[in-house]
Amino acid sequence: MKNFEKIWEVSKDIRGWFDYQEAKQIYSVVAQNKPKRIVELGSYVGRSSINFSVLAKEFDLDFITVDDLSSKNTKDELIENLKKIEGKYTFLQMKSDEAFQFFNIGAYADRPIDLIFIDTVHTYESVKHDCDLWLPKMRQGGLVLFHDYCEKYHGVIKAVDERKELEKVNLAYTLMTTVKI
Ligand SMILES: C[S@@+](CC[C@H](N)C(=O)[O-])C[C@H]1O[C@@H](n2cnc3c(N)ncnc32)[C@H](O)[C@@H]1O
Repeated sequence: MKNFEKIWEVSKDIRGWFDYQEAKQIYSVVAQNKPKRIVELGSYVGRSSINFSVLAKEFDLDFITVDDLSSKNTKDELIENLKKIEGKYTFLQMKSDEAFQFFNIGAYADRPIDLIFIDTVHTYESVKHDCDLWLPKMRQGGLVLFHDYCEKYHGVIKAVDERKELEKVNLAYTLMTTVKI
């Protein structure tokens, strides 16, 4: 955890909902498992992304963050925020479905994903859709993380709990960590 507080000092001032315990869980899960290829669905302005980006640099991992920025054009803010500590990332400004094609038949199709963080729309339909699409690209034993696994977003809970291929291993505030079995 030697660099965690340093990352949190920057992350906490970025707009968003990602909290201290959740950031700490990301840090420990990535530092312990060193997942070679990490995908984040839902960058917004980088509050969670910066955690992955700094860890990707530290452990030489690939980190791809995806956001269609459909609600607002916040790309400049995202890029500025990600510059606040040196990290390593690729940003794909597109919908989750479109980004998936890079992993299915495109530039990233060569190997599976080791960790995915799903944080786009918090409805049952959206989470189910992202799981149906992306989970087959995850390696067995890979980590699948969901934000806002909480009563307020009961659709997230339902969509996660019904996945037979996922084993729940940790809940840090609203961040559910699961493993693909
Ligand atoms: C809750 S925010 C992400 C928050 C971010 N992970 C954080 O912790 O700061 C959700 C983001 O998902 C994006 N989004 C929604 N639907 C999407 C889709 N189908 N494909 C890609 N991005 C999407 C939105 O533009 C929004 O920026």
